[in-house]
Amino acid sequence: MAQLWGGRFTKETDELVYKFNASIGFDQKMLSEDVEGSTAQAKMLAKIGIISDEEADLIVNTIKDIVSDVESGKLKITEKYEDVHSFIESNLIDRIGDTGKKLHTGRSRNDQVALDMRLYTRKNVLSIKEDLLELLKVLLDLMRSNIDTYMPGFTHLQKAQPVTLSHHLCAYFEMFKRDVLRLEDIYKRMNFSPLGAGALAGTTYPLDRKFVADELGFYDPTVNSMDSVSDRDYLLEFLSALSIIMMHLSRFSEEMIIWNSNEYRFIELDDAFSTGSSIMPQKKNPDIAELVRGKTGRVYGALMSLLTTMKGLPLAYNKDMQEDKEVSFDAFKTAHDCITMFTGMLSTTRFNKEIMAKSATKGFINATDAADYLVKKGMPFRDAHRVIGEIVLYCIERSIAIDDMKIDELKEFSELFDNDIYEEISLKTCVSKRLTAGAPGERSMIEAIEKENAFLAVRL
Ligand code: ARG
Repeated sequence: MAQLWGGRFTKETDELVYKFNASIGFDQKMLSEDVEGSTAQAKMLAKIGIISDEEADLIVNTIKDIVSDVESGKLKITEKYEDVHSFIESNLIDRIGDTGKKLHTGRSRNDQVALDMRLYTRKNVLSIKEDLLELLKVLLDLMRSNIDTYMPGFTHLQKAQPVTLSHHLCAYFEMFKRDVLRLEDIYKRMNFSPLGAGALAGTTYPLDRKFVADELGFYDPTVNSMDSVSDRDYLLEFLSALSIIMMHLSRFSEEMIIWNSNEYRFIELDDAFSTGSSIMPQKKNPDIAELVRGKTGRVYGALMSLLTTMKGLPLAYNKDMQEDKEVSFDAFKTAHDCITMFTGMLSTTRFNKEIMAKSATKGFINATDAADYLVKKGMPFRDAHRVIGEIVLYCIERSIAIDDMKIDELKEFSELFDNDIYEEISLKTCVSKRLTAGAPGERSMIEAIEKENAFLAVRL
C-alpha cells in the first residue's frame, strides 16, 4: 500500500478496507488529465515562487517519464496505489525525492479530482459532439437524395398521411441537432477551473488560479471553493444529455427494426451491420439497432445513480462522490459506441423506395386530402369528413382504395366529385401540396435542408 496520508495513523489499514476505499481500478482512465493538471500546478507554483523554475521543469519532465514508462509497459499501475493521484505522486517522489514532495503544495485531492473529472468530461462532451456531427452529415446526405421518396407517415403506428423519407429523417436531424446544442450549452457552463479550491476552503498560499485556468483552456477559475470541490452538476447535465441522445437513438433503432421486418421491408440492412441466427438459416437480424435500443437503459442508469448519490450530500467533499466515475465512464463509452455504430448502420442501409411508395398508397393515407378536395368545392369540413368516412367504409368492404372507385360511384356519395379528384388525391399531389414551413412538400423540404446545412457548415 502506497498511501499519501499515513502520519496520523498508528495501525495499517485493513486490507479489505483498503480495497473497498481504493479507486485506482477505474480512475487510472484519468491518467492524462491528472498529468495535465499537475503540469499546470507545477508551472504555477514556479510562477509564484514556491518552487524554482528548475524544480518545476524536473517535476514536469519526470511526470512525462512516468507516463511514457506506463505506456511502454515498464511501469505498472497496480492496486498498491490508492488512486491515480497517489500513483503519480508516489512515483514522482520515488524518482526525485523532496522536489516531488513539493508538487501538492496548496492542493488537495479534492480539487485535484474535481479538476481531473472536469477535464475528462469536457473531452468527452467534445468527442460526443463530433460523433453526433458525423451522424448529422449522414442524415443530411440521405435527406438530400430522398426528397421524392414517398412513404407513409404514421400516428399510433397506423398509416396517417403521406410524407417522404427526407421529411422523416429531418425529424431525427432536428433531434440530434438539439443534442449538439445541448452539449455546446453544457460546455459553456462547465468550462471553469476548480483547481486552487484546496480541500474546501482555498489555501493561504498565493496561488494564481487564473494562470492555471488559462493553461488548461478554461474560461476562468470557479467562484466558490466549496462549490468547486462538491459540484458534479456538469456531469449530471452531460449524463442527462447522453440519456436524451440515447432516447433518440433508441426511437430511431425501433423504427429501423420495424422497417427491417418481413412485413414492412422498407429497408435492407447491410450484411456488415446485421447478424444471422445459429438455427434459422433465413434470418438476418437487426442486432445493432436492438443493442442500441437495449443499451439506452445503462445510460439512464448512470444518470439515476449519480442523481441519487448526490442528493443527500452535505458540503463539501464526501467520499460518496468517488461513485461518480464508473457509471459515467461506462455511459460515455456506451453513448460513443452507440452513436458510431448507428451512423455506420444508417449510412449503409438500402431503402426500398418502391415498397415504401406502394405502402403509402394503401391504408387510405389520402383520405384527408380527399376531404380537403370536397372542402375546396364548397363543402364544410365536418361534412366532408363524414362523406369520406363513408367512402372509406365502402372501400374496406370491397378491398379497394379510394383511387380505385369510378367517378359515378364517387358521385353517389357527393355530387361535388369530378374527374380532377384522381389527380388531387394521387400520392405525388398529396405530398407536393404540403407546403407549410416544416411540411414534406418539395419546396418546404428544400428550405429545411438549407437550414440544416447552415447549422452543420459552421461546425464541420
Ligand atoms: N478517489 C477520490 C475520488 O474519486 C479522490 C479524492 C479523495 N479525497 C479524499 N478526501 N479522500 O473522489
